Amino acid sequence: MGSDKPKEIQVGKKDRAQGSTTACPCCIATGDRRFRPWLLDNGIRRLLSPPAKLVKEFAKEGQVVADLGSGSGFYSIPLGKKVGSKGRVYAVDFDERAISRLKKKAAKANLGEVIAAHAGSAADLSFIPDASVDSVIANGLLCCMVDHAGALSEIKRILKPEGRVYLSVARIGRKKDPRYVGKAEWEEILSGFRVIWRRDGLATRRAKVAKREIPLPAELPAR
Ligand SMILES: C[S@@+](CC[C@H](N)C(=O)[O-])C[C@H]1O[C@@H](n2cnc3c(N)ncnc32)[C@H](O)[C@@H]1O
Repeated sequence: MGSDKPKEIQVGKKDRAQGSTTACPCCIATGDRRFRPWLLDNGIRRLLSPPAKLVKEFAKEGQVVADLGSGSGFYSIPLGKKVGSKGRVYAVDFDERAISRLKKKAAKANLGEVIAAHAGSAADLSFIPDASVDSVIANGLLCCMVDHAGALSEIKRILKPEGRVYLSVARIGRKKDPRYVGKAEWEEILSGFRVIWRRDGLATRRAKVAKREIPLPAELPAR
C-alpha cells in the first residue's frame, strides 16, 4: 500500500515526480487527486446513479456518518438530510474548493449544523473521536490518494464496533500510479475487514464491510 506524501502532478503533462503522465484527464493537480466540482455533482450523475440507495443503506436518523473524499457533497447533503438534526455528517476532502462549495450547499439546505465539513486528508481524522461513527462512506477515495494505509487505519479507528463501511475504487488506472488500487491490494484491504457484500464491476470494485473482529448477527452461534 502506498504511504508516501502527496507529490506534485500536472495533469496532461509529464509527472515531474514520476516521469509519467497521469491517467485521468479530469484531475487538476497534486499527488492526491482533485476533481472539478461539476464532474462529481451534476444532474446527469444524480439521474444515472441516484445517491438515495447508498444513503438508505448506510444512514439512519440520528446516526453519525463520515463521508471521506466527500467532494462537494454528492453524498454528504442527502446523508445530512437522512440523519437529520440529531445526527452528524463529517464531510472530509483535501480539496478546499470542494469543501467550501459543500459548506454553501449545506447552509442553503439548512444543514449547516448537521454537516461538519473539513478540508484535510482522510489519513488524518484526528478531529473525529475513536469509535464514534456508525458508517463511513469512501466512494472513490482510496484510488484518488496515495496514503491508503493511513486512511484505512483512520477508518478503523473512528468506526463504532458495529459500524459499517462502504468502499469503492476505480478499476481503471496505471498500475504504477501510487494511488491505483489493484486487485491484490483490494483483496488485502478487504482481508482487514469482515466483508458483508462485494461487487467487482467493469469500472469499479465496491464492498460493504464491517470490523473484522465483530461477528455479524447472522453468524452468532445459536443458543
Ligand atoms: C472520485 S472523487 C469522489 C467524490 C465523492 N465521494 C463522490 O462520490 O462524489 C474522490 C475525492 O477524493 C478527494 N481526495 C483525494 N485525496 C484525498 C485525501 N487524501 N483526503 C481526502 N480526500 C481526498 C478528491 O478531492 C475527490 O473529491
